[in-house]
Amino acid sequence: MGKALVVYASRTGQTKRIAELIAEGIRMAGQEAELVDASRIREPSQLEGFDAYVFGSATYHGEMLPSMKQLLFMAEKAGLKGKVGGSFGAFGWSGEAPERIYQTMKNVFGMEMVGDSLRLKSAALEGGVQMAQGYGRDVGAKLAS
Ligand SMILES: Cc1cc2nc3c(=O)[nH]c(=O)nc-3n(C[C@H](O)[C@H](O)[C@H](O)COP(=O)(O)O)c2cc1C
Repeated sequence: MGKALVVYASRTGQTKRIAELIAEGIRMAGQEAELVDASRIREPSQLEGFDAYVFGSATYHGEMLPSMKQLLFMAEKAGLKGKVGGSFGAFGWSGEAPERIYQTMKNVFGMEMVGDSLRLKSAALEGGVQMAQGYGRDVGAKLAS
């Protein structure tokens, strides 16, 4: 069984909810998932021992939250090359953060990314639960392949 780490940066809980649903989807696909707030990851060793990483942040003023930025600098030293990756985030109108995270994981860390980043205005909107769980299932399926 593969093990995924889902890390989120969220101010009002929307991105956290998406993270929970992605973790559920990964488990539905028969893989393990651990869920952590980005601000709780303080050293690169906390990123060791996983086969997949799914990082997410809400977008504020066109940017990801500072705790996700810090996490990405830390992840640079964690040897994630070739690991399965995905990214997500809640947004209001422009949603830059998930795509920035995705491109960093792909181009800087050299990870094997799932199809695209997941951007949702809210998991509470119609179809949101299924989309977020579906993203988790995709991560789980890529882990199993
Ligand atoms: C001060 C402020 C700035 C924001 N800036 C952006 C932005 O630049 N682009 C965008 O798409 N959404 C923006 N939003 C909307 C948030 O991304 C949206 O409310 C999101 O659901 C918050 O997710 P969170 O609950 O995980 O923090 C902004 C919201 C606030 C309050």
